[in-house]
Amino acid sequence: MGIKRVKTGIEGFDKLVQGGFPEGSCVLLAGTPGTGKTIFSLEYLYNGALKFKEKGLYISVGQPVDSLIEQAKLFGWDIEKLINNGMLEIIYISTKELDQNISQFIVDKIQQNNIKRAVIDSISVLATNAPVYKSLNEISVVDILEHRSFFSPPILGDSIIKKFIYTFIENLRTADSCTTILISEASEKGEFICRDTVSEFACDGIIIMGLMSIGNENYRSIQIRKMRLTDQGKDIYPLEITKNGIVVKTKSL
Ligand SMILES: Nc1ncnc2c1ncn2[C@@H]1O[C@H](COP(=O)(O)OP(=O)(O)O)[C@@H](O)[C@H]1O
Ligand SMILES: [Mg+2]
Repeated sequence: MGIKRVKTGIEGFDKLVQGGFPEGSCVLLAGTPGTGKTIFSLEYLYNGALKFKEKGLYISVGQPVDSLIEQAKLFGWDIEKLINNGMLEIIYISTKELDQNISQFIVDKIQQNNIKRAVIDSISVLATNAPVYKSLNEISVVDILEHRSFFSPPILGDSIIKKFIYTFIENLRTADSCTTILISEASEKGEFICRDTVSEFACDGIIIMGLMSIGNENYRSIQIRKMRLTDQGKDIYPLEITKNGIVVKTKSL
């Protein structure tokens, strides 16, 4: 049997990934602020629920539910209706409430409610806030020595974030009929795509959304850097945010 593909339904996108994301994969959607990550993810869940009858879950760390509903409305997507009929759930989590249990909470939610599409907005905010409530007595001397970070809280902090992300993605994989987008706030420069430097290695796919401003014009782009089990489109494609949502310009493909 072939690989089952999960269509985003986003104009121009699916043909770049052989029809859709491989079912069960964890795809990192990276980009600097304002590149369209939230809109892309909302459209993925909206189309999933409406066109493909697949239940969606949006975990929002920081952006309130009402604001997401309003954002979707601008594109004509009535996600409130989907919430009311049980096809979509948006969970807002304040950074203050975050702790290590978030990972298991999300996996339980996916399994109990038969969720097929999930979005984590964002893994960056989650990873920097979730592990901080780990009590000091849970950090062993071995943890410190392993990372050669004697007396160096920033490095120790960094390694805790990395460990959290690996465990988080590993946990998500146990919900293997759910295809998840992990939004990541990309750094403007640097050799790594994500600030945490590890999520890009742990994920099955990486999509990079870009934005360049020249004069009064904004030029948006999308690139699929990696997609396991997929012969993906190799270019950097122009992308537009239209009144109906995202359009990827693929020319002759
Ligand atoms: N209706 C629209 N038409 C065109 N562009 C829009 C529209 N709504 C939002 N945008 C653009 O999308 C950007 C926000 O996208 P968003 O997905 O929230 O970004 P991110 O989540 O990557 O920070 C805005 O800064 C704006 O430039
Ligand atoms: Mg966003």
